[in-house]
Amino acid sequence: MPNNLQDTITLNNGVKMPWLGLGVFQVEEGPELVNAVKTAIAHGYRSIDTAAIYGNEEGVGQGIKEGLKAAGITREDLFVTSKVWNADLGYEETLAAFETSLKKLDLDYLDLYLIHWPVEGKYQAAWKAMETLYHQRKIRAIGVSNFQVHHLESLMEQAEVKPVINQIEFHPRLTQLELRNYCREHDIQVEAWSPLMQGQLLNNEVLQEIGKKYNKSTAQVIIRWDLQNEIVTIPKSTKEQRIIENASVFDFELTEVEMKRISALNQDTRVGPDPDNFDF
Ligand SMILES: NC(=O)c1ccc[n+]([C@@H]2O[C@H](COP(=O)([O-])OP(=O)(O)OC[C@H]3O[C@@H](n4cnc5c(N)ncnc54)[C@H](OP(=O)(O)O)[C@@H]3O)[C@@H](O)[C@H]2O)c1
Repeated sequence: MPNNLQDTITLNNGVKMPWLGLGVFQVEEGPELVNAVKTAIAHGYRSIDTAAIYGNEEGVGQGIKEGLKAAGITREDLFVTSKVWNADLGYEETLAAFETSLKKLDLDYLDLYLIHWPVEGKYQAAWKAMETLYHQRKIRAIGVSNFQVHHLESLMEQAEVKPVINQIEFHPRLTQLELRNYCREHDIQVEAWSPLMQGQLLNNEVLQEIGKKYNKSTAQVIIRWDLQNEIVTIPKSTKEQRIIENASVFDFELTEVEMKRISALNQDTRVGPDPDNFDF
């Protein structure tokens, strides 16, 4: 269990990843994006999650550069994730997509590169390319996103390198127990996307009631619940006060009863697409 914003989990290949990071989905290129990344770094965040399809890797790169300088820290102090998009799943295509992402971010290496979605018939070849890049030390760790158990099983039949991470939609309305148990058994760390259900859970009465007890916001209660569930999490905000708020979760502890009450909010409902039924 992490004690502060910079605490890390050791992934199955020995690489250390911060438990809590900043997501930047749906943030367009421009000053708001650059400032969000800079602000997060200034307030102690050490992990940033982007993707090729977000179309914002250049601004993320600029925010990283400015943020590192202002904080007086180096590239090695930061953990940067990007993801290969569906159209680029293939051996040569994935190698090329990686180079494009790296160039846009203006970095020499990535800490984590993920297959964004498990497009049937395509992710195996992409994984080979990820393994090549990993062996070339251009990526410190490789993983997947939106993989169900059967996708992971199929990937691992041929894989030389096991994924370190499965980044999945996870929040109190979608607790993914079976998939989490499978990942735990196989030493694949689960990472939550849309941990705040894109804002849809913030008026939930159970979460508000629990928050009141600790003088914490609903967002803070959810993020704390992620961490106590041993799930890496990357809430997104571009607002300084919320960036600070979302990281102020290390000074209270949910009881076992509260953890269970929050998990009982599960309805298996998604804000994003179903990984077994998407057409992009
Ligand atoms: N792998 C995948 O397929 C996938 C899919 C989706 C997302 N992701 C990753 O996961 C990250 C997080 O998911 P997400 O961006 O979809 O949603 P999220 O983090 O669940 O929610 C973000 C929304 O909540 C608001 N918010 C954030 N903190 C708040 C607070 N303390 N109080 C009130 N509102 C708050 C944000 O608004 P403001 O910005 O206005 O504060 C934004 O509208 C993404 O940014 C992305 O990096 C990955």
